[in-house]
Amino acid sequence: MSDPSDEIERTVTLPPMKSITWTSIFSRTVLVGLLLIETLGLATAMLFLFHRVHPTTCTTGLDPNQLLYSPALVAVENEVRVYNIGFPGDLSSFQIPSSPALDQMWSDLYNFGISRISKDEAARLPNKTHAIPGDEGYYIAELDVFHNLHCLNKVRMALDPDYYPEWRISTTNNWIPSQKNATEHVSHCLDWIRQSIMCAGDTSVIVWQWEDSANASIVKGDVAHTCRNFDRLRDWGHEHTLHVEYDPAVHIEDDIAVPTFRSGGEQQRG
Ligand SMILES: *[C@@H]1O[C@H](CO)[C@@H](O)[C@H](O)[C@H]1NC(C)=O
Ligand SMILES: *[C@@H]1O[C@H](CO)[C@@H](O)[C@H](O)[C@H]1NC(C)=O
Ligand SMILES: *[C@@H]1O[C@H](CO)[C@@H](O)[C@H](O)[C@H]1NC(C)=O
Repeated sequence: MSDPSDEIERTVTLPPMKSITWTSIFSRTVLVGLLLIETLGLATAMLFLFHRVHPTTCTTGLDPNQLLYSPALVAVENEVRVYNIGFPGDLSSFQIPSSPALDQMWSDLYNFGISRISKDEAARLPNKTHAIPGDEGYYIAELDVFHNLHCLNKVRMALDPDYYPEWRISTTNNWIPSQKNATEHVSHCLDWIRQSIMCAGDTSVIVWQWEDSANASIVKGDVAHTCRNFDRLRDWGHEHTLHVEYDPAVHIEDDIAVPTFRSGGEQQRG
C-alpha cells in the first residue's frame, strides 16, 4: 500500500536544464510554480479521497482489498479450499448428532474470541472501543468471524430443541440469563449470518459436469474456493484472548478520536 506522499514525489519532475537565461529562469519558475500548484491540488484531492476511504494511516497489515483497518489483517492469508459437500459420502466432522463432543468442536472455533488489543490498534479501528479496566493501554475487541461462528452455533442448537431445550424458539418461555431471550437471539443470529454472507459475496463458481452413469450433467459443489486460512485467524484469536474478567461498569475516558468514516452505501445515498 503506497503512501500518498510517495505520489507527490513522483509527480514533481522539473524540466531538464538547457541554457540558463533570464527568460528561461523566469519561464522555468512559472512552469515549476504551475506544476507545484497543480501537484499540490492533485495531492490534496488524493489525500481527501484517500482519507474518505482510509480513515487511519496506512502502514503495515493493510490488505489493499480491505477498506477498513483490523488488527487481525496481519493474520489474513488466502488459500484455496474445497468444501465438504455435506451429503452422505462426503460429510464433515461437524455432521454428527448433538453431543458434548460436538459442542466442544463448535466451542473450539470461537470461545477465545474476546480479544485484547493495544491502544495503537484501537486508535486505528473504524469504530471506537473501550479500554479494559485494570489493564492499562489495552482495549477490548472481537473479530466478527468468531461472533459469526457463535451465531451459527446458536442457530444449530435451536434446530435441535430436544437436545437444547433452552434454545427452543417455538416458545415464549426461553429466557436464558446469559443469552437473554433465545427466540430474539436466534433471530438476531440468523439475520447477522445473512448479512455476513452477503457482505463476503463469495464469487467462487459451482459447476455442472457430465456423468455417464447418470446420463446427465450434474451440479458439482466440490470446487475451489478462495478462503481465508481460518487456522491463522484462530491463532491470532488465541494470541490475543482477553483472560481477565472484563468489567463493563467501569468507564475509562481516553483521547482516541471518533473516526469520521462514511461507508460506501452512505456515500452513494449522498
Ligand atoms: C422473547 O421474544 C419473543 C419475540 O420478540 C417474545 O414473543 C417473547 O415474549 C419473549 N420471551 C421472553 C421470556 O421475554
Ligand atoms: C442417455 O440418454 C440418451 C438421450 O436421452 C439416450 O438416447 C441414451 O440411450 C441414454 N443412455 C443411457 C446409457 O441411459
Ligand atoms: C461505526 O462506524 C460506522 C461507519 O462510520 C457507523 O455507521 C456506525 O454508527 C459506528 N458504530 C459505532 C457503534 O460506533
